Amino acid sequence: MEPYRCTKRCRGIEISGIRKLFEAAGPWSINLGLGQPDFDTPEHIKQAAIAAIREGKTGYTPNTGIPELREAISAKFARENGLAYAPDQIIVTAGASEALHIIMHALVEEGDRVLFQDPGFVSYASLATLAGGCPVGVPLDGKFHINVEAAKELMDGARIFVLNSPANPTGAVEPEDSIRAIVEYANDAGVTVVSDEVYEHFIYGAHHTSAARFGEDVITVNATSKTYAMTGWRIGYLAGPKEYTDQCLKVHQYCQACATSISQYAALAAYTGNQGCVEEMRTEYQARRDLLYSGLKGLGIDFPLPEGAFYIFSPMSPALLERVLAAGVVIVPGTAFGCNAPDYARFSYAASRQVLQQAVDRIGSVMEE
Ligand SMILES: Cc1ncc(COP(=O)(O)O)c(C=O)c1O
Repeated sequence: MEPYRCTKRCRGIEISGIRKLFEAAGPWSINLGLGQPDFDTPEHIKQAAIAAIREGKTGYTPNTGIPELREAISAKFARENGLAYAPDQIIVTAGASEALHIIMHALVEEGDRVLFQDPGFVSYASLATLAGGCPVGVPLDGKFHINVEAAKELMDGARIFVLNSPANPTGAVEPEDSIRAIVEYANDAGVTVVSDEVYEHFIYGAHHTSAARFGEDVITVNATSKTYAMTGWRIGYLAGPKEYTDQCLKVHQYCQACATSISQYAALAAYTGNQGCVEEMRTEYQARRDLLYSGLKGLGIDFPLPEGAFYIFSPMSPALLERVLAAGVVIVPGTAFGCNAPDYARFSYAASRQVLQQAVDRIGSVMEE
């Protein structure tokens, strides 16, 4: 018998290509590879965590999360998203990543198809595979919006449609009409929509629409990670029909017990405190997007202006990408995000304007070779 045997499910997925690139980067590199805010977590949020430590709030919490935080998230859903989720329909998780993981484990049977935008966030396909499901990419149009008719064709017999708007890696914000059409069609066809809204606050001109406004069979996933520059605190959550959250809770209970107690108090301060910090970050991201977009356009790279998240997904031939990487600008090839965009690359503009300008200058110096 072979030693060190692992499951086919696990062997069937790869370590994230983004991590590999990041680790290969030299000290002189400009790293626009990671989807991580470069802002510090706002001070009032940090202070709440420090107070929690001092007050000894360091034990296990209820599996679902501390009641005050679930109440605050419920109020946030009502205030910002027009959604009526009761606190007992909410589970606080270790980031949106864990929320997505436990949803897949609670809902996906062996061989079930899980749909998501392609190009799309790297985790969806791997999480679906780990849960025994079969990942299927949904094609996008020229502006990286979901091709609704193509999506409908793929929906019959599928189990989950993961809808991500604003989207990683494209920065696309789905129009409300498309979201409504997708949710209505999916729910009629018995497909659960999992709406990943982690970039909801980073939109420049367009507006955010929560999928759960248009159907009952929807689970909403969100996190403090991007909104409040809290990626390392590991707080996310899911909210949905109690029939689902009751099952998701079992998976969460056995793999995580509860999200970090200290981080939960920090998240409580984030949701109940002044929201000015979010607007400040949004304004700065918009200025950075504009700088990077016009810089790339000035080099002759032409593409539609992305409306959200903190990514630019630009056309880039494999030959140019190689030169850009060799010039020390770390960006992520489109192949990391699925099958449909091999001639693109993702820039994260969660970096200062000065760094973004340097990146544009370095790319300019290798354009003509
Ligand atoms: C679309 C999307 N969903 C979920 C996540 C994971 O978020 P978290 O850090 O809260 O696990 C990311 C992180 O990059 C993301 O881009």
